[in-house]
Amino acid sequence: MKPFVFITRKLPLEFIQEIKRAADVEMWEEEEVPCPRELLLKKAAKADGLLTMLSDKVDQELLHSAPQLKVIANLAVGFDNIDIDHCTEKGITVCNTPDVLTDTTADLTFALMMAAARRIVESAQYVKEGKWKSWGPYLLAGTDLHHKTVGIVGMGKIGRTFAKRTTGFDMKILYHNRSRNREAEEELGAEYCEFHDLLKRSDFVVCLAPLTNETKELFNREAFQQMKREAVFVNASRGAVVVEEALLLALEEGWIAGAGLDVFEREPIGGDHPLLRLPNVVALPHIGSASRETRTEMIQLCSRNLSAVLSGKKPETPVQ
Ligand code: GLV
Ligand code: GLV
Repeated sequence: MKPFVFITRKLPLEFIQEIKRAADVEMWEEEEVPCPRELLLKKAAKADGLLTMLSDKVDQELLHSAPQLKVIANLAVGFDNIDIDHCTEKGITVCNTPDVLTDTTADLTFALMMAAARRIVESAQYVKEGKWKSWGPYLLAGTDLHHKTVGIVGMGKIGRTFAKRTTGFDMKILYHNRSRNREAEEELGAEYCEFHDLLKRSDFVVCLAPLTNETKELFNREAFQQMKREAVFVNASRGAVVVEEALLLALEEGWIAGAGLDVFEREPIGGDHPLLRLPNVVALPHIGSASRETRTEMIQLCSRNLSAVLSGKKPETPVQ
């Protein structure tokens, strides 16, 4: 009997051919609605492989109900939605999608920083709403990026690739990371900083760190209080690195000047989310890696990883 793979979101068939060769595949077919938890548990119970989204919680409950499970391919570089320790204990291989999304995510992070700094979204809305009556010297004037200081928290591959983009804008690069990144220092002139030192010195504080026990709620009240009043905070990693109430307060009270957010504590957020009331917030629906080219590569990589493990071979990008 062929192994069974369940895919939790509708994906183009042409990009999952590798899995189809190695396994019988079932897929959640609805485009707009995610696979309900109950159904995922039911499918996991007989699955040898799962292709999951970052919005699927792969916790002990799921893992306990999946006796045959050998491999999980998560369609994301982050894997904080998966209980990795438990997978390791149970001998389940977990794969993510690093590298293929690095440039695309760095691009989006830069765009978000630029949008927040130069008030792009607010300005575009202003024109669309027919509010533009005259040119004015300070009409929708934002703040410059060029020659400013950017502080990058999380200098992994995406952090470094984002940093490279900022050199084209003559920005001074500070960074904080678990370990020193000598390549970033040598190639880009990035300066390693303690976290609080980075907060105090940066005009743009950009988070690209994975969500871990160490980074959870790293951006709390104290962190926002240490930033410059002109600082713009950008988050393109995971919402839970931020205490959202503290960010809201920081923006309302003017401790910082603005924010560009691709991720939130609880996603998706509704139109009534309090951060959306603020004109100095640019909010995006977690689209860091969302270019058609990159999403296709991510799906194909997941497909190859699943197929490899189910055929007794080494996957390309295991996380453990
Ligand atoms: C997206 O957030 C990812 O982790 O790939
Ligand atoms: C602005 O458009 C200018 O010409 O300065």
